[in-house]
Amino acid sequence: MTARDPLAVGPEAVLARARAPWLRPATPTDWPEVEAVLLASGLPTTGAREHLTGFLVAERPGRLVGTAGLELYGESALLRSVAVRPEARGDGLGARLVEGALALARTRGAPTVVLLTLDAADYFTRFGFARVATDQVPEAVKASTQFQGVCPASAIAMHIRLD
Ligand SMILES: CC(C)(COP(=O)(O)OP(=O)(O)OC[C@H]1O[C@@H](n2cnc3c(N)ncnc32)[C@H](O)[C@@H]1OP(=O)(O)O)[C@@H](O)C(=O)NCCC(=O)NCCS
Repeated sequence: MTARDPLAVGPEAVLARARAPWLRPATPTDWPEVEAVLLASGLPTTGAREHLTGFLVAERPGRLVGTAGLELYGESALLRSVAVRPEARGDGLGARLVEGALALARTRGAPTVVLLTLDAADYFTRFGFARVATDQVPEAVKASTQFQGVCPASAIAMHIRLD
């Protein structure tokens, strides 16, 4: 219990935690809901189904509310499809998904993580991502559908090194 959060261990906090979405790896049967979350967030779905084994999903009872996908390319990974349903935003879920995906990249032996974003660059700097010139992106990542035209040419490339 703290002065700032007097209910941190009280019954309301316990209930809030019980209602909080939990993260788990995606399974093939999640695809329709993953696709729905991406569409609701205005993100491309191309190539996502093929990489579903690298996705984390955030689940509330009976409903997926968030996604984050990793495409692995040797020692590098592409972070894509970071999305939270509009009604579930602003509650730290996006951060949990990004941090979960970065932890997954570490355990899968991919210490360099790259992403492309149109308008969320400021969001990803919170996690340590920095802008990178496309010619500095590993060739294997540049071969991904995201780099091969799915994301507009105006998208910003960012990377992080997980040392
Ligand atoms: C980006 C996104 C995943 C964040 O999800 P979330 O659960 O709301 O994120 P969090 O709760 O962890 O963080 C909320 C904070 O991020 C900020 N934020 C959200 N989207 C942002 C963006 N595009 N750029 C900069 N900051 C952003 C919010 O203003 C909020 O700021 P605060 O902490 O100062 O109040 C969600 O807004 C989303 O799905 N957006 C559409 C898809 C998208 O652009 N994905 C990223 C590219 S792959």
